[in-house]
Amino acid sequence: MKDIFTIALSKGRIFKETIPLLAHAGIEPVDDPETSRKLILDTNQADVKLVIIRATDVPTYVQYGAAEVGIAGKDVLMEHGGEGLYEPLDLEIARCKLMVAGPEGEPAEHGRLRIATKFVNCTKRYYAEQGKQVEMIKLYGSMELAPLVGLADRIVDVVDTGNTLKANGLMPLEHIADISSRLVVNKAAMKMKHARIRRFIDLMQEAVEKNRKDT
Ligand code: ATP
Ligand code: PRP
Repeated sequence: MKDIFTIALSKGRIFKETIPLLAHAGIEPVDDPETSRKLILDTNQADVKLVIIRATDVPTYVQYGAAEVGIAGKDVLMEHGGEGLYEPLDLEIARCKLMVAGPEGEPAEHGRLRIATKFVNCTKRYYAEQGKQVEMIKLYGSMELAPLVGLADRIVDVVDTGNTLKANGLMPLEHIADISSRLVVNKAAMKMKHARIRRFIDLMQEAVEKNRKDT
């Protein structure tokens, strides 16, 4: 049996947008993660497997070598810190922006600004760079609710169309970073399985360039 090559990714938008890129590299999943309960998906190539995990867990699996490569949003990578990972390729998919958002107007005076977010590290860094001390409230989703119920003055979250903010009476206020999904590679695997991983990166790069021409 040849060495298994494992790719970590999340279901939903990243999986959907990665499928055409993987197809260019000759990799087609046998099962659909939206209907299958399997967490390790076989592909048309016996030595290539996909592990389907939470988006925020992808850097961790790759960092520890549980998967040779992974696909994760830049937001998730900035939050993780990137330890043990190479980030050789911008896949130019799942594009959005990491932003500060909140209701229109100045927040009520009550000491430090309160920010609700799942991006605690990114948010701390962003305000520290401006010399501002803020109070952080860690949430795991539906951040838009926090200002509506008085939990926080502002949120830090990803914004694409702005529809979720608008539907909740909030506005984008400050741009923190442009986000897209990246290919990440375990540093040790990059050395040990160099030829296999290099070939994969090159094929994914070709697919990104093809996507760019087509859109
Ligand atoms: P988790 O399940 O770990 O909480 P998640 O729910 O954020 O993660 P997804 O919604 O699938 O997972 O998002 C995966 C990635 O896609 C995000 O890390 C971000 O880079 C990008 N993304 C998130 N929301 C949008 C959006 N509305 N439009 C475009 N890209 C987005
Ligand atoms: C993400 C994000 C925002 C929304 C922004 O949520 O957390 O709520 O997208 O996109 P928009 O600007 O186009 O409205 P997602 O749809 O991924 O749902 P989630 O809460 O399951 O992550």
